[in-house]
Amino acid sequence: MDTYASFERGDSLRPFHIFRYPGGKRWLSPDISFLSFTFGRYINLTYADGGSGRIHLTPTFLLEPFAGGAVVGLSLLDQNLIEHLVLVEKDPRVASFWRTALSDSRFADRVERFRCTRKNVEAVCANPDRDPAFWTLVKNRCSVGGNLKGGLMRDVSCRWNGKVHAAALRKICSLSFRIQCIEGDGIDALRKHADDPSAAAFVDPPYVAAGKSLYNQWQVDHAAIFDVLAKWKGLWVMSYDSAPEIRRLLKKHRFVYREAPMRTNKGKVKKELIMRSIPVLRHENPKWKKT
Ligand SMILES: C[S@@+](CC[C@H](N)C(=O)[O-])C[C@H]1O[C@@H](n2cnc3c(N)ncnc32)[C@H](O)[C@@H]1O
Repeated sequence: MDTYASFERGDSLRPFHIFRYPGGKRWLSPDISFLSFTFGRYINLTYADGGSGRIHLTPTFLLEPFAGGAVVGLSLLDQNLIEHLVLVEKDPRVASFWRTALSDSRFADRVERFRCTRKNVEAVCANPDRDPAFWTLVKNRCSVGGNLKGGLMRDVSCRWNGKVHAAALRKICSLSFRIQCIEGDGIDALRKHADDPSAAAFVDPPYVAAGKSLYNQWQVDHAAIFDVLAKWKGLWVMSYDSAPEIRRLLKKHRFVYREAPMRTNKGKVKKELIMRSIPVLRHENPKWKKT
């Protein structure tokens, strides 16, 4: 019996996204083979008569317990590497965006019609709770670094393309029967599915160092996330900033990890820690290490 991935090393996954989310994982897509090695797997079978077959072990569902812009889940779903996606998000406005995107087919039309002038953007941003889903998209696309807590860019329209956003929303709506969005706590969701071997998780909690300046919901019990993943029965991948607290937890749990270079919104190159549930396979990226 041989287990291998549906992607070869170096293959890339087409990223599917609508936000420019701070801490978003678009940058992982050119090197996505590690994710497909984890999530898109097969068993090769050899029958007694000499014939052969293949069972695809696509996980029943992928949980993104810290959803944000959900780039990884949406991209894997879009390419049929998972069957269902469960998004959990604690920020009520971001959760509202996902609920609306999944359930309201007219949302895309409204986005397409929006004239992205400073006056219109300021009017939307002044009332976050009048239409939180619309606010989230406009604020994200028009503010510096996509930061929902930050100020608007000088040229508010430079990252707005109504047609493109509407097309992404229509696609999300067409996939909605395979996506569930829960407004709630990601750690609770992880605990709920910890004993299910068919559940996979992509875990991307708020950064330890920069989380406070980027997210309204930034306080997380990092040790509790490590504890639940140490007992998680299914496949998982987790991404974190390389903070001393995280390095200590990584060492304690002896997770397999690699350091991935990424460019911040300010153009600085930083290393992020990408950890995962299963040991490195022979033909995989040799950079994965065990603590
Ligand atoms: C690093 S971002 C996720 C980015 C996402 N992976 C992407 O590609 O766009 C972390 C997200 O977790 C959310 N969050 C923070 N605490 C949470 C909690 N306890 N449960 C669920 N979501 C939480 C934040 O609001 C933020 O949207």
